[in-house]
Amino acid sequence: MPTPQEQNPFYGKDFITVNEIDRPSVDFLFERADRMKAAVAAREVLNILSGHVIAVLFYQPSTRTIFSFITAIKRLGGIVVSAQDMKSTSVEKGENLPDTVRTVQNVATASAIVLRHWDNTSSEIAAKFADIPVINAGSGTAEHPTQALLDIYTIKSRLGRIDNLHIAVVGDLLYGRTVKSLVKLLAEIGENNQFSFVSHPDLALPQSYLDSLPPDLEYNQIEDLGEVLEQADVIYMTRTQEEWFNALGKHEEYELLKDSLRMTAEMADQMKPDSIIMHPLPRQTELRYRVDDDPRAAYFEQMRNGTFIRMALLECILTNPGTN
Ligand code: NCD
Repeated sequence: MPTPQEQNPFYGKDFITVNEIDRPSVDFLFERADRMKAAVAAREVLNILSGHVIAVLFYQPSTRTIFSFITAIKRLGGIVVSAQDMKSTSVEKGENLPDTVRTVQNVATASAIVLRHWDNTSSEIAAKFADIPVINAGSGTAEHPTQALLDIYTIKSRLGRIDNLHIAVVGDLLYGRTVKSLVKLLAEIGENNQFSFVSHPDLALPQSYLDSLPPDLEYNQIEDLGEVLEQADVIYMTRTQEEWFNALGKHEEYELLKDSLRMTAEMADQMKPDSIIMHPLPRQTELRYRVDDDPRAAYFEQMRNGTFIRMALLECILTNPGTN
């Protein structure tokens, strides 16, 4: 008989990086996400997380991620505990992450912590000090693993496959965290995919990141989005991350780079009919509003999928679907 972990690879575990996920795990989760999508469509009342408190700690701004986590917890019958704003907590008095995490676990009697934080290693630190699973909802410029899952779920839903694709990731690849998790996960679980990393040279993926990709991964680095418009199956736009430039005292550099790449309705017209345009959002000038009317625009569906994926992930981490 399979152990609970063999049946459900997420059960009782932290979810802090895409590095440890394989194709069977993703398939398992996507199957649960499909069920969540159907349950939401049928307005089913679920009690999968009844009796569970989930603490939601966001040290950075968020709209889609926080709303979808809160919705996911409530739709599953769980209880959300969160601060209005981390600035209203003892973090303002200098309390460190380990103490905040231990406080939340004990005071909220929480079963899991969802954490967004500006430090690249925040989720690892939290996981070290918490006795309950930690879910990374965005860590610094390094990782956004639940976003990668919902991105790949969207690619699969729209294009019917996650293999044999040409994926162009575009924009701020230096500071953007969504692309780092997406490329790494897709490179790991997909077969025969080809990547184009499209950015201004000053916003290219860090060499250390490129070195961490599978050695046989097929990719090129280019500056002009026009070069891949007609070939790409997926064009994944991202915003230039102003906050990181500001934090490093580089606002002038941001002003110079912020408009270096953009997707317009005319450019979308040049794409293959069965291709898609994605964006984790929020957007700035890089994704024109007129693109929204193009049937290839997938970003609103993408954000909606975030709720189903996070419902599935919370279910799999806190319960063992299929065995109970
Ligand atoms: C992204 C993030 O926070 O990294 N947003 C999101 O979660 N959908 C992308 C961004 O802020 O540019």
